[in-house]
Amino acid sequence: MDLREALRSTAAIRAFTDRPVSDETIAAILDDARFAPSGGNRQPWRIAVLKDRAVRRSLADAMQPVWDDYMVATAAGQTPFTAVPPAGYTPPTDRPPHAPNPLLTNIESIPVVLAVAADLSRIALMDKDLDRPAVAGGASIYPFCWSILLAAREHDLGGVITTFATRVEPITGPLLGLPADHVLAAVIFLGHPERRPTKLKRSPVVTTVDRFDGPPLSYD
Ligand SMILES: Cc1cc2nc3c(=O)[nH]c(=O)nc-3n(C[C@H](O)[C@H](O)[C@H](O)COP(=O)(O)O)c2cc1C
Repeated sequence: MDLREALRSTAAIRAFTDRPVSDETIAAILDDARFAPSGGNRQPWRIAVLKDRAVRRSLADAMQPVWDDYMVATAAGQTPFTAVPPAGYTPPTDRPPHAPNPLLTNIESIPVVLAVAADLSRIALMDKDLDRPAVAGGASIYPFCWSILLAAREHDLGGVITTFATRVEPITGPLLGLPADHVLAAVIFLGHPERRPTKLKRSPVVTTVDRFDGPPLSYD
């Protein structure tokens, strides 16, 4: 597939047909994705392919309250879980209602569920000493996650990167046997898409010259 086309059309896919995906295909996807970049080329990732239905169910049960919280905040017009609270943000105090999420409800039947762990001892967290939440470390793991989604397209598969399991790592870590010094960075769902969107909603990139308050980049 043409690279430009892949970049412009790889949407989050959350609904899959029941067509199975072989272990050989999973291995081939990961073997392509491993060429993703990481800080110092440390490649801090490892994968657990979740097959056991009971493990999947426990994982989904742990993730569900995070989704419920997400939906409450979204319904209130807030962007949930932002790294710094937006002005005027007041966290909801009520217990959120159950918000069904097909990824979680149907987790047992989703063709591929991958847990992605990252080894903190191999991540250079360049911005860790600043007086704000660190973000640079994620850049050593999420390009790999994105490469999994791109590599999956070569096999006509689609999927979605999710991070809601990270919020409940005290539950999901022991459930998945997360090694010492590792974090659970993502859970990726893959399968044959029920349908594939052709047009993604993405905004133009705000682009200025020399400074972020500089003049817009203009071109003819
Ligand atoms: C770092 C990251 C975290 C994400 N976490 C979640 C998540 O927890 N749950 C979920 O359903 N989607 C998650 N997504 C998928 C995004 O919601 C999706 O990529 C975005 O809304 C664009 O959707 P679209 O491709 O359908 O336009 C995540 C994506 C990224 C890159």
